[in-house]
Order: sequence, then C-alpha cells, then structure tokens
Amino acid sequence: MDPAADSAYELLSQYSHSFMVSQVLFAACELGLFDLLAEAGEPLSSAAVATGLGTSPHGTELLLDTCASLELLTVETGAGRALYRNSGLASSFLTRTSPTSQLHMLRYLSNTTYPCWAHLAAAVREGRPQYSRAFGVPSQDLFAAIYRSEAEQLCFMRGLQEVWAVHGRAVMTAFDLSSFPVICDLGGGPGALAATCASLYPACTVLVFDMPEVVLAAREHCFPGRGQVSFHEGDFFKDPLPAADLYVLARVLHDWTDDRCSHLLARIHHTCKPGGGILVVESVLREDGRGPLTTQLYSLNMLVQTEGRERTPAEYCRLLSSAGFQDFRMKKTGCTYDAMLARK
Ligand SMILES: C[S@@+](CC[C@H](N)C(=O)[O-])C[C@H]1O[C@@H](n2cnc3c(N)ncnc32)[C@H](O)[C@@H]1O
Repeated sequence: MDPAADSAYELLSQYSHSFMVSQVLFAACELGLFDLLAEAGEPLSSAAVATGLGTSPHGTELLLDTCASLELLTVETGAGRALYRNSGLASSFLTRTSPTSQLHMLRYLSNTTYPCWAHLAAAVREGRPQYSRAFGVPSQDLFAAIYRSEAEQLCFMRGLQEVWAVHGRAVMTAFDLSSFPVICDLGGGPGALAATCASLYPACTVLVFDMPEVVLAAREHCFPGRGQVSFHEGDFFKDPLPAADLYVLARVLHDWTDDRCSHLLARIHHTCKPGGGILVVESVLREDGRGPLTTQLYSLNMLVQTEGRERTPAEYCRLLSSAGFQDFRMKKTGCTYDAMLARK
C-alpha cells in the first residue's frame, strides 16, 4: 500500500474504534477502578485490583493495561509484576472525591447519550431525537423524555454542574459582570454556574430560574454552592420571568429551534430593564460552521437528544438582534464554552 493509503487506513481504523476508548473509560468508572486506586493510597497489582473490585483477574488485567495506554493510569514494573496508580487526569476528573470530578457526566454519557447515539443514522434520516428508540419513551415532550425518572434527572443535573467546576470561572469572567446588580440564570439547573457567578461577584444578587421539578431537586439534594443563590420555579416559555439586570442563558439556546429561541429571547427582552444585558454561554461553531470538531459533535448530539443545534457567532448575533438586543460582543475563553454579551 502507498503511504497515503496507509495513513488513510490508519485514520479510518482510529475513527472506527473510537467508541471502544469511550467504553473503556465508562467501564473503568462504572466498576470504581479510579476510586479504588485513590483510596488504596499506594499502587496496586492487577490481582489486588481484581479482588478489590470483585472482577475477573483476566478482564481486570486487560482493562488496566488499556487504561495505562490511554494515560488514565501509570504503571510501574519491577520484580516481575506491574503496579498501577491513577494518572493526573484520573485523579483530577475520575475520582468521586475530587472537586473537579466528572463522574456523573460520564455516567450520563454512558447510560443515556451513548444509547441515543446508537440511532444516529435514524436521527439524521428523521431529523429528531431518539429517546423512543433508545428507551421506549416518546420524544414529543422533550422535557418528559429527558427527566423520565428521578434517578435520570439527578444524574443529568449532577453531570451538568460538573463542567462548571472546571470552566465556570473562565466563562463568568470573560466579561466583567459586576455592573449588573441582579443576575438571573435562566434554565440554570442545579445552580453551579450561578454559584460560581455569586462567588466571583459577591456584591451581585444571583438567582436561578428553572422548571419546578428541577428547582425541587436542587433544593432537596446537596449541590455545592447552592446556598449562595436563590431558586425560582417556572416555565421560561410561559411564566413571568424574574426581574433582573442580566439574564444568563448557558447551554439553553442550543436545546431549541430558531423559532423557540426567538420566542424565549423576545420574552427576556420584554422583561429586561433598559441598559440591562443578556449573557449567552455556548460551545460556538466557527463562522463557516466547519468546526471545531467537538462543537460539531455536540451539534449532532443536539439532534439525537434535543430539538436544537450548536450555532455560529453570526447566528447567535442574528437571534439576539431580532429580539431587540444590541452591542453584541463575543469573547473566546479558550475552553469548550464561549461567552456572548448583548444589551437592551
Ligand atoms: C442543557 S441544560 C443547561 C443547564 C445549565 N444552564 C448549565 O449550563 O449547566 C438546560 C436547562 O434548561 C432547563 N429548561 C428546559 N426547559 C425549560 C423551561 N421551559 N423553563 C425553564 N427551564 C427550562 C432545564 O431544566 C435545564 O436545567
């Protein structure tokens, strides 16, 4: 084979096996591998890990060595045996007690997103979410499909907040928000981004507005930082919105069609005080729509799980301007989510 064909085949092979990498990560988390190694306080042999997890010696050895190749574990070899410990990545993001743990989001990706992606071709063919194929629940009422059980809702809420432990500061400091005395995070879920906002701008009053089921769960369960913000319940498409100087919409517009976004933005513009603002936080496509790849994959994810899509800066600007907002500015944060501010 010529070198070009060789490298094309290499790329094909890498793409076609990528799902196995995700599954290694998901399985290791589900089995509690990284927590076992963190709690052991010393590197463990494969046999000790198998005993600790109650897993087969053969399967455990294969999983450990693959995790080491993926840089999730480090391995020390000597005296005829290998000892495994968590890598920096695993310690930071894959252990239960780390403040930047991403375990709930990984569980959500494994148990909910992955089964929906098994029907990507159907989603592309039909142009709609795939909850009915993946879980036998109707997708017409998206909210009911996404929050189809209490356990599912809690996993989603806990997963949602985890990214803000890593990127919350970057998106909330992209613009200086200290001139907005009252900040309302619409569709703010469990309130992690709002809590970050409250700690960065202690003089501001920060509130979260979300559906009653979500507010109830946020009040009942222990979400970090929740005490710094007040929660208000309602449907942002129908109910009166709380009065505020700045409205935050983080990962909300990407759930909806242009028509639903326009309806929501018009309601916000109507309630917003003159001189007030709106801060949109999203993973933003390049202006030509051809990347970054992660954002394009998120956009396909919006197809299999929601009514929406990711958008370009010009598309966000157009939606905000049509609703009456002006002075659109965007700040790239260098992480997955960028910030866009506009004023009434
Ligand atoms: C993708 S989540 C984003 C949550 C949060 N902003 C974040 O970035 O982590 C979308 C949020 O919008 C909320 N939501 C959806 N429909 C809503 C409605 N009609 N009224 C109020 N909140 C709604 C959901 O409950 C959920 O918390």
